[in-house]
Amino acid sequence: MEVKTSLLDNMIGVGDMVLLEPLSEDSFIANLRNRFDHNEIYTYIGSVVISMNPYRSLPIFTPEKVEEYRNRNFYELSPHIYALADEAYRSLRDQDKDQCILITGESGAGKTEASKLVMSYVAAVCGKGQEVNKVKEQLLQSNPVLEAFGNAKTVRNDNSSRFGKYMDIEFDFKGDPLGGVISNYLLEKSRVVKQPRGERNFHIFYQLLSGASDDTLKKLKLDRDFSKYNYLSLDSAAVNGLDDAANFRTVRNAMQIVGFMEDEVQSVLELVAAVLKLGNIEFKPESRCNGNDESRIKDKNDLKEMCELLGTEQTVLERAFSYRTVEAKQEKVCTTLNVAQAYYARDALAKNLYSRLFSWLVTRINESIKAAPKSRHKVMGVLDIYGFEIFEDRENSFEQFIINYCNEKLQQIFIELTLREEQEEYVREGIEWTNIEYFNNAIICDLIENHQNGILAMLDEECLRPGTVTDETFLDKLNTICAEHLHFESRLSKSSKFLTDHSLPHNCFRIQHYAGKVLYRAEGFVDKNNDLLYRDLSQAMYKANHSLMKQLFPEGNPAKVNLKRPPTAGFQFRHSVGTLMRNLQTKNPNYIRCIKPNDKKASHIFTDSLVCHQVRYLGLMENVRVRRAGYAFRQAYEPCLERYKMLCKRTWPHWRGPAREGVEVLMADLTVPAEEFSYGRSKVFIRNPRTLFFLEERRRQCLQDLATLIQKIYRGWKCRSHFLLLKKSQIVVAAWYRRYAQQNKYKRIKSATTVVQSYTRGWQARKLLRELKYQKRCEEAVTTISAYWHGTQVRREYRKFFRANAGKKIYNFTIQRIMQKYFLGLKSTMPSMSPIDKSWPVKPYLFLDGVHSDLRRIFHLWRCKKYRSEFTEEKKAVFEEKLEASEIFKDKKALYASSVSQPFMGDYLEISKNPKYQKLNSAMDEKVLLADVVNKINRANGKGTARIFLLTKNSVVLADQKTGQVKASVPLPDLTSVSVSTQSDGFFALKLKEGSASAIKGDFLLSSEHLIEIITKLHRTGATAADSEQLNIDISDEFLVQFKHDKVCVKFIQGGPKNGNSVSCKRKNNRLLEVSVPSTV
Ligand SMILES: Nc1ncnc2c1ncn2[C@@H]1O[C@H](COP(=O)(O)OP(=O)(O)OP(=O)(O)O)[C@@H](O)[C@H]1O
Ligand SMILES: [Mg+2]
Repeated sequence: MEVKTSLLDNMIGVGDMVLLEPLSEDSFIANLRNRFDHNEIYTYIGSVVISMNPYRSLPIFTPEKVEEYRNRNFYELSPHIYALADEAYRSLRDQDKDQCILITGESGAGKTEASKLVMSYVAAVCGKGQEVNKVKEQLLQSNPVLEAFGNAKTVRNDNSSRFGKYMDIEFDFKGDPLGGVISNYLLEKSRVVKQPRGERNFHIFYQLLSGASDDTLKKLKLDRDFSKYNYLSLDSAAVNGLDDAANFRTVRNAMQIVGFMEDEVQSVLELVAAVLKLGNIEFKPESRCNGNDESRIKDKNDLKEMCELLGTEQTVLERAFSYRTVEAKQEKVCTTLNVAQAYYARDALAKNLYSRLFSWLVTRINESIKAAPKSRHKVMGVLDIYGFEIFEDRENSFEQFIINYCNEKLQQIFIELTLREEQEEYVREGIEWTNIEYFNNAIICDLIENHQNGILAMLDEECLRPGTVTDETFLDKLNTICAEHLHFESRLSKSSKFLTDHSLPHNCFRIQHYAGKVLYRAEGFVDKNNDLLYRDLSQAMYKANHSLMKQLFPEGNPAKVNLKRPPTAGFQFRHSVGTLMRNLQTKNPNYIRCIKPNDKKASHIFTDSLVCHQVRYLGLMENVRVRRAGYAFRQAYEPCLERYKMLCKRTWPHWRGPAREGVEVLMADLTVPAEEFSYGRSKVFIRNPRTLFFLEERRRQCLQDLATLIQKIYRGWKCRSHFLLLKKSQIVVAAWYRRYAQQNKYKRIKSATTVVQSYTRGWQARKLLRELKYQKRCEEAVTTISAYWHGTQVRREYRKFFRANAGKKIYNFTIQRIMQKYFLGLKSTMPSMSPIDKSWPVKPYLFLDGVHSDLRRIFHLWRCKKYRSEFTEEKKAVFEEKLEASEIFKDKKALYASSVSQPFMGDYLEISKNPKYQKLNSAMDEKVLLADVVNKINRANGKGTARIFLLTKNSVVLADQKTGQVKASVPLPDLTSVSVSTQSDGFFALKLKEGSASAIKGDFLLSSEHLIEIITKLHRTGATAADSEQLNIDISDEFLVQFKHDKVCVKFIQGGPKNGNSVSCKRKNNRLLEVSVPSTV
């Protein structure tokens, strides 16, 4: 948001004098002093800028300041010359109004500096571009050139303008500068030949002598020493703070920029040198025969050098200094010049030469800077004219009279335009207006310029009058004509009131100027007004072989002899001032009123009396009063509302309606008395500064509250911004971190993927490779197989054609033959069909080893099968018994081996057939499975008794051998076990179940030759009997037998030889029955 400021902000004293309260001369000056002390050198009176000369450089003219004031409203910032320049430039550019900037003030008040500041500001803010910049530069650089030739050190100002300057700067419709036109007004040329004490000649003389190179000086026939030149005053040749040598370089450079050609510069310098030389020409009187003195040049060296510089003939010039030709009515009269006249002629020539050179310079500059004649240009005129001048200690002459007249005119235009503008504004805004009384200096202007009886008119009249004309006659005339004038004072005037005024010498007159009374000495008025240059001199100059001289003295051309008197200086000046005033009146004026704070050209000194004097004659108090008579302050509605809207709730913060209504609401709300303000069409007018200060005070208080509010909001905003920034940063950091983390993760995944991928690819590749290899191998194999196959095919096909096959055929054949022979041989040598036959033909060939043994095994199995297939049921039963006997006794009892070859006959006694046993047989209710004779061992002595042993399906029967009487019948279920020895004896004990009926007599100890068969059958029968348990067969060499009540141990021992080959049994004791078995059995 653009910050709205005002000149009322941070104001030192009062920025605008209109607001000064109370308004008095003292408070006015006190305010100026206060501001001056605080380096505030600018103060406004409405739109007029008062500028105090600070006499030192202040940091307020920087490019930054230019930017600050650029495009800002006039009252927006503290008072500044830039504000005025900006206002003027903008209204020229935007409103198409031609402007003029009128800078007034007395000598040394800072007019020239102000004009340069305005120009530099306008140059800085207007358009840019190569062409535009060149124009700007030329316009700005015209200043140093004109200052060098037209400024001089005076007692009042080290750089006093000794000519008036008005510069029109021309702009196009965009506001870009196109060029300019400079008008100059009456150079104070008397200074060329004579300078008052403490003053200098024009700067260029000193600059040339100090700054030019030796070479240049030599060419110009000059000496660096100032004292060598009569026209240069010596007492103040060097000025403090003025570097002539450096300034000369600046001037040369400026001339180059402005567009002077090198030869033009040279010509100009030659003329400057010629003026110096001219001053050194001195005359001496030479007595003529007619008794008159005739002047002669003392030392012709300077004349010679001067003539060389100007290309004039020495004799022509020499003659012009001695004679004067007067033409009257076609008659030429030649008179001699005395020494005084010769000096007068010399000085007149020097003054004319220099002033014409100066005018030529202005014309030349104009040529360079003039704008192309286009359609309409916008114009900004800057007027920097010599300031009002009063010399107290020495006489004021014609020059001061002219200068002060010019200032008088400017003051008049100021008064007129200021008031007119003020009045127009009230009319424009529809405000009631009553005229204000003010001092109008028109009466003084009239005294000077009136065509009939004005001082200038009378001077001209005197100059043109035939007869003797002197300054005294001129003064007499004034005394007669102007005696009654209120502003004219003279000792000898008709008005008797000045007769005793000793401050008024007889040869002087006094004018009461707007800026004070000035005493003018009449001496020199006529001469200066005539500005006479003897024709001989101008013709001599014209004859010079120097192009510039010819241009400067056109009247010297003998072909154009003009007998008419040239217009007087006063007339010319009045005429040009009249033109200037008319010109200014067509433009919108902007005023800068310069004030000099002290007479010492010193900074920080503020002399009240001096300032007061200037304030008075500049009419500044009147200016303020006029401004305040109506309304002290005015402001357009928009900025006014903008500035004070915070004072009313209805207008703060925004007023939606028209600004005027807003201001009305505001004023009503603040209860400002109605007579204190008026509403114009576009502005509100405030009558009294107090009202404005009241508004300002309220605003200041309100601003403090607003400042707190703004501070609060700002702090909040700042914290929030900070927070948001942190948040944003955090997000950025987090984002970066996440990105980093994700990147790392991604890298990890990527590398893992790459690994997996590479493995997978490797695996796939290997698989593929394998497949390809396999495929290749297959293809190779197929190729090989097919090749072999084809080979085989081919070989097979062609085998028959090859001998190589014979070997194999022979081999196969041999093998077949051997096999055949083997099988045939085997057939003939086959062993018997007996399964026990172990013989087998020897193997004929080693390679048939496997087949041979396999065949042997197969044959044996087949033979056994055959053998078995021939068995009857009975034989099969016999063999089963044999098999059972083997299972029971093999390798357990020595007797078994001898029993193997003996067939089990069972019925040894042929009981069913033998009649002897018929009875016994019939007593058997079952079929007898075994019938044999056994020995029953006597328990007492071990002797055996023969008994018949019968075995049926159910029982064992013992019967007497002789009688066949059944001795004992034991049912098989009562039989628990059978005990036998391991040896080759036939003893066996039948153990009966305890408690059974059969067991009453005790166990049976028997002996038989067919023990193996008996026990086997007994075991088989017992096993098949349905109700009997498995019969235990106990094979050991010691076992217990139950004899009636005793248990007797039967022990088998190895019998000695004395027992022979028979088995003996003896009762050893009650408990032991020893059976001795022969070892051989
Ligand atoms: N704004 C300023 N800042 C600094 N110095 C200044 C300023 N204005 C004027 N001066 C000083 O005052 C001196 C006189 O100023 P300037 O030549 O502008 O006066 P002037 O009004 O043109 O006088 P004159 O009527 O004699 O030409 C300058 O040389 C300069 O030293
Ligand atoms: Mg000046």
